[in-house]
Amino acid sequence: MSQFLDKTPHQNSVAVFPGSFDPVTVGHIDLIERSAAVFDEVIVAVACNQEKTPLFTVDERIDMIKNVFAQNPQVKIETFKGLLINYLVNRDAHVIIRGLRAVSDFEYEFQMALMNRKLAPGIETFFMTSSALYTYVSSRIVKELASLGGDVSDLVHPLVEKEIKIKYSCQ
Ligand code: PNS
Repeated sequence: MSQFLDKTPHQNSVAVFPGSFDPVTVGHIDLIERSAAVFDEVIVAVACNQEKTPLFTVDERIDMIKNVFAQNPQVKIETFKGLLINYLVNRDAHVIIRGLRAVSDFEYEFQMALMNRKLAPGIETFFMTSSALYTYVSSRIVKELASLGGDVSDLVHPLVEKEIKIKYSCQ
C-alpha cells in the first residue's frame, strides 16, 4: 500500500499547491479555496526560482498571498527552493495540486507529474480544472495588461491590484 493510502483516520490531509504566483491571480485563489474544501490543510508553496526574473520578490509574493488568505486558517504559505518533491518529503506531504486551464497546459503538467512520480512514487499529483470564468487568466497576462495601463481588477484580488499599481508606477 502506498504511503498516501496508508493513513490513519485522524491524520490531517495536507496538499501542496506549488507555483510561481507572480502575482497570485483570481484563478489561483479559486483553486486554493476549492482545494481547502477537500483537504484539511493547503500549503501554498511559492517557488524560489533563480532562473526567472519575477516582477515581485518571493517575500512580496508570500505577503500578498498571506494577506489574501488571512481569514482562512486552513491555508498556509511557504517557500521552497530546488526540487518540489524534496520539499514535499521534508514536509511529510503526499499530494501536489496543479490547475489545468486548457489543453495547452496539459503537456507540461503531464511531464512534470510523471517526473515527480518517478522521483517519489508515494507522492501523487492531483489536477483540478480551473473554473470556466478563469480559464484565460494567468499571471503573465495580468502583468502584460497592467504594464500597458489595462484594468486588472477582475483578474486579481484588490490587495494584489494595489501592489501591481505600486510596482508599475515605480518603473
Ligand atoms: O506557477 P508555475 O510557474 O507554473 O509553477 C511551476 C513550478 C514552480 C511548480 C515548477 O516549476 C516546479 O515544481 N519547480 C521546482 C523544480 C522541480 O521540482 N521541477 C520538477 C521536476 S524536474
